[in-house]
Amino acid sequence: MAKTKTAFFCQNCGTQYAKWVGQCGACREWNTIVEEVIQKEDKPGWKTAGITSAKPSKPIKVHEISTEKEVRLNVLDQEFNRVLGGGLVPGSLVLLGGEPGIGKSTLLLQIALRLPYKTLYVSGEESLKQIKMRADRIHPLSTSCFILTETKTQQIFQQIAAIAPDIVVIDSIQTLHSDYIESSAGSISQIRECAAELIKFAKETNIPVILVGHITKDGSLAGPKILEHMVDTVLQFEGDRNYVYRILRALKNRFGSTAELGIYEMQGDGLREVSNPSEILISKYEEELSGTAIVATIEGMRPLLIEIQALVSSAVYGTPQRTTTGFNSKRLNMLLAVLEKRAGFKLGVKDVFLNITGGITVDDPAIDLGVVAAILSSNADIPLEKGVCFAAEIGLAGEIRPVRRVDQRILEAEKLGFTTIYVSKNNKIGLKKHTIQVVEVSRIEDVVRKLFG
Ligand code: TYD
Ligand code: MG
Repeated sequence: MAKTKTAFFCQNCGTQYAKWVGQCGACREWNTIVEEVIQKEDKPGWKTAGITSAKPSKPIKVHEISTEKEVRLNVLDQEFNRVLGGGLVPGSLVLLGGEPGIGKSTLLLQIALRLPYKTLYVSGEESLKQIKMRADRIHPLSTSCFILTETKTQQIFQQIAAIAPDIVVIDSIQTLHSDYIESSAGSISQIRECAAELIKFAKETNIPVILVGHITKDGSLAGPKILEHMVDTVLQFEGDRNYVYRILRALKNRFGSTAELGIYEMQGDGLREVSNPSEILISKYEEELSGTAIVATIEGMRPLLIEIQALVSSAVYGTPQRTTTGFNSKRLNMLLAVLEKRAGFKLGVKDVFLNITGGITVDDPAIDLGVVAAILSSNADIPLEKGVCFAAEIGLAGEIRPVRRVDQRILEAEKLGFTTIYVSKNNKIGLKKHTIQVVEVSRIEDVVRKLFG
């Protein structure tokens, strides 16, 4: 019988120790070292499953490497394709993280069902019946998707060898279990081992694998950080569960930009791609409301118009409150200080609440001017004119600063029927033709005068 071997792993960063220690030397966390049973054998890995491997690799001159075969698989989901950088790269390992209940299983099942390729959806979390019920709701007509409820990696590889799928989806890495490691599913050594087996499998067979990973309360992917280092792409599915919108972003991507963003709407029959996000983020009220301003921001490569709401009221208690949702509160304090110093508004004694609607978080400085306009509008209780939007940053001296890719913002605002956009005087506008009125401002006082007379 093989001797049982144990080792100590940091549950935070995955560093291995021979002995127990109180503090992890790598990530400096206390009390994160846990003993796990491992068993070192010469493991045949996924090859026991009988899949024939590719040739052993040899050094090759860089100019001789052919890139022509780099065909990406179109997953028939424009948002997912874009976030991946133009489709799924064969042989890549993608990790999709997200809080429980956010819709990871729904998103991947939906993609698996719609694909014209043979897909294998492996679930260690739900029963066949549960998956079938969900599948019926999302896409009842699929014929090329196989479902497997299994958690043992060796079994999974055997099934893969049997049906030879083009894409494998695993829900989730925390439920997987490899026979070569004795510790329980979800432990650091298991996660690391299973991920390593899957990576080896993906690289040698060129079959892409999408993994679901759970997220801990503090927002990091559960399990070791090493998982993030091992995979090619880390995607995060996020959004406020109280809203129906979900945002997919790439935290790491070896094959594309991490600036891209995909937006979905959760509906009764799965997730709908939102191809024109600006429409959903701007509420449509008949009457004009004070304290609301629309800004043209850019998320990834896409221009996006979003609505900012501010409420300014007299402070009831000694210290005025500053509360923000979706916006950096330090930045709000800075903008309030600028308003006080440069434009003479005494907001120091007022409560200020700021909210970006739709449950999204924006850190584009180009929304500064819109934030200030919303605050001023609420303070004066005068609604801004209809059809006005903003795209400019505000500096500490009260100057209106230029923003990147202003042309794209202007075009998006025009497309959505806005009639006026406020930008910085120093922004170079390359557009030849536009019907929207572009108001160029250079100081915060100008804006106040133009907006409120
Ligand atoms: P799920 O994919 O199970 O989340 P995760 O795998 O990230 O834990 O999604 C669960 C939520 O999505 C659940 O609260 C119900 C909701 N949902 C819909 O609103 N519409 C649908 O068509 C489906 C399948 C789920
Ligand atoms: Mg799930």
